[in-house]
Amino acid sequence: MTDTNPGGLVVFDHPLIRHKLTLIRDERTSHRLFRATLAQIAGLMVYEVTRSFETESFRVRTPLVETTGYRVRGTITVVPVLRAGSGMIDGILDIMPEARVGHLGMARDESTLEPKTYLSKLPKDLAAGPVILVDPMLATGGSASAAVRLLREAGATDLRMICLVAAPEGVARMRRDHPDLRIYAAALDERLNEKGYILPGLGDAGDRMYGTT
Ligand code: PRP
Ligand code: URA
Repeated sequence: MTDTNPGGLVVFDHPLIRHKLTLIRDERTSHRLFRATLAQIAGLMVYEVTRSFETESFRVRTPLVETTGYRVRGTITVVPVLRAGSGMIDGILDIMPEARVGHLGMARDESTLEPKTYLSKLPKDLAAGPVILVDPMLATGGSASAAVRLLREAGATDLRMICLVAAPEGVARMRRDHPDLRIYAAALDERLNEKGYILPGLGDAGDRMYGTT
């Protein structure tokens, strides 16, 4: 794991994550394999992302004696940005089945690259614990920036983001708009093309996931 900026971006350099991300980048990968692999990477990433979660101790009885046990403090909420973020949810819930799931629906206007929010279904008490925003693609950063603003307005106080591929342009935008937000990515790519797609990237994540290319 490379921590390029404690306030901002953490890039994973785990061999399994690099291996699986390459599968996802490959244009020959089917939507079925794309979906399964995306969920697996999310599961691998969340293990490290949750390292900073606070725990509280309580007494627990084993079959032999009483001892000290631990549980994560507060209620965890995971918020995927639809559509593509939903592809990371199963992998995360495999590791944290007790987490709640809020949903944000956002679609980028292909000509202006501005995000439009079409759905927001969130738990009322987002401040009740850690919140993880999930979207595989951080391109211009427009969607992520709007999502973070929305989550904070809705009450989230302990927030971080997981993405798969980040573009330097999106990271810079997030640093400007939300300097205190920690972002975890499987890769920091080279740049955006003239249409706002990440290079080398993996194409349109939602389309590749659902076979709507
Ligand atoms: C993709 C992706 C992000 C957004 C990133 O979603 O999942 O939400 O684009 O781009 P940005 O950083 O420039 O805002 P898209 O709008 O294509 O919707 P989809 O997941 O439904 O395909
Ligand atoms: N959204 C995607 O799905 N892919 C990109 O490369 C950029 C935005």
